[in-house]
Amino acid sequence: MDFKLSEEHLMIQQAARDFAQTELLPGVIERDEKQEFPTEQIKKMGELGFMGMMVAPEYGGSGLDTVSYVLAMEEISKIDASASVVMSVNNSLVCWGLEKYGTEEQKQKYLPRLASGEILGAFCLSEPEAGSDATSQRTTAIDQGDHYILNGTKNWITNGGTADVYLVIAQTYPEKGHHGINALIVEKGMPGFEVGLKENKLGIRGSDTHSLMFTDVKVPKENRIGEDGFGFKFAMKTLSGGRIGIASQALGIASGAYELAKKYSKERKAFGTEICNHQAIAFKLADMYTEIEAARLLIMKAARDKDNDDNYDLSSAAAKVYASKVAMDVTVEAVQIHGGYGFVKEYHVERLMRDAKITQIYEGTSEIQKIVISRSILKD
Ligand code: CAA
Ligand code: FAD
Repeated sequence: MDFKLSEEHLMIQQAARDFAQTELLPGVIERDEKQEFPTEQIKKMGELGFMGMMVAPEYGGSGLDTVSYVLAMEEISKIDASASVVMSVNNSLVCWGLEKYGTEEQKQKYLPRLASGEILGAFCLSEPEAGSDATSQRTTAIDQGDHYILNGTKNWITNGGTADVYLVIAQTYPEKGHHGINALIVEKGMPGFEVGLKENKLGIRGSDTHSLMFTDVKVPKENRIGEDGFGFKFAMKTLSGGRIGIASQALGIASGAYELAKKYSKERKAFGTEICNHQAIAFKLADMYTEIEAARLLIMKAARDKDNDDNYDLSSAAAKVYASKVAMDVTVEAVQIHGGYGFVKEYHVERLMRDAKITQIYEGTSEIQKIVISRSILKD
């Protein structure tokens, strides 16, 4: 495996780092406190090409590889994981899913505006009674000839209030189980589609998470993605790539906290010396560094698998489960290294610790990743 990043990769990494420092850092604490969506910042990310990084230029995207995407995700997540989840959903779930499986008309209609950040997308799989157990979809899409009638509720939808395009998974033929599920493109404003209240969250508080309610929403047949009954496979295949994005979000949260802790440990004095000179603190930093490097390698492996068209179901699940654990471990230790100062908002690490937790929950909990991993490694 080639560990060296190309000139282009380094440039993208630097551009994301600069953007995060100049545009996301100012106001990140206030946005977290007020649960304020980073509207202006997301608009600028769109202008810079961060909202459709892997979309082909013919559909208005940047045409970059997955490695570029994870490098940018890490840099954005170091500073603002709320902005990075918006980026992740738009890039790796909505744009990727549409580009890979959509019709030419669907791609022409939606991708250019999604990739430029003019509009945002949402990916709607989870329901009150179907989270991990995603095949148990209760939302129904009844076939009415030239359209579907959509009824049901989706839960926890990222970009729920801010999106214009929603990829909604729903059951058409309950007797066929997961083979009867479809994926439909629903647009904001379709009659019968309502956005519920915004969730008040522990972390990633700048992102907006909502329930969505569908009551007899008429969705044209041309809005179905893929063949009749392909919806569950569509969700699973799309999530395999999404998990690489969330793993890099976790990596960014961890490396952001590590950098802050390392800097602080060289400044703060106790017992007549900088605290990094106490072995207990130096060893924490050594563990943090090692875990972060290991997570980065797993993520790069998954990204390269995807770029090489190799199967990445296993490598993406392994990257996500490991990187999200590293995010938890490292952020807790970063708060510890800051002592009391780590417990207050100005030092950022308490927010990073709160943000880390979601990476073990969404896009498949850690327990679900272990199901995916164990099934894969035991298969042969
Ligand atoms: N690619 C293609 N097909 C896949 C697949 C993949 N990666 N994974 C599973 N499938 C297929 C299986 O082959 C099977 O189809 P066949 O019967 O035709 O072979 C079908 O899907 C059902 O799979 P299983 O029999 O394995 O079903 P299961 O119920 O035992 O397990 C699961 C499925 C892996 C647990 C799945 O339900 C799952 O991933 N759950 C987690 C849901 C999730 O990740 N939600 C995230 C929501 S989006 C989000 O969270 C966004 C955000 O926060 C920002
Ligand atoms: P449950 O499935 O009820 O799980 C509860 C616990 O039981 C977990 O610890 C789980 O790991 C464990 N568990 C369940 N089944 C098993 C099993 N078989 N073996 C071992 N343990 C098991 N969803 C979307 O579709 N789109 C989004 O944009 C989106 N954004 C989100 C944003 C936020 C902030 C949050 C909190 C969630 C979001 N989700 C989204 C939903 C997320 O994907 C689900 O919360 C997640 O998949 C878990 O489902 P659940 O909450 O119903 O938990």
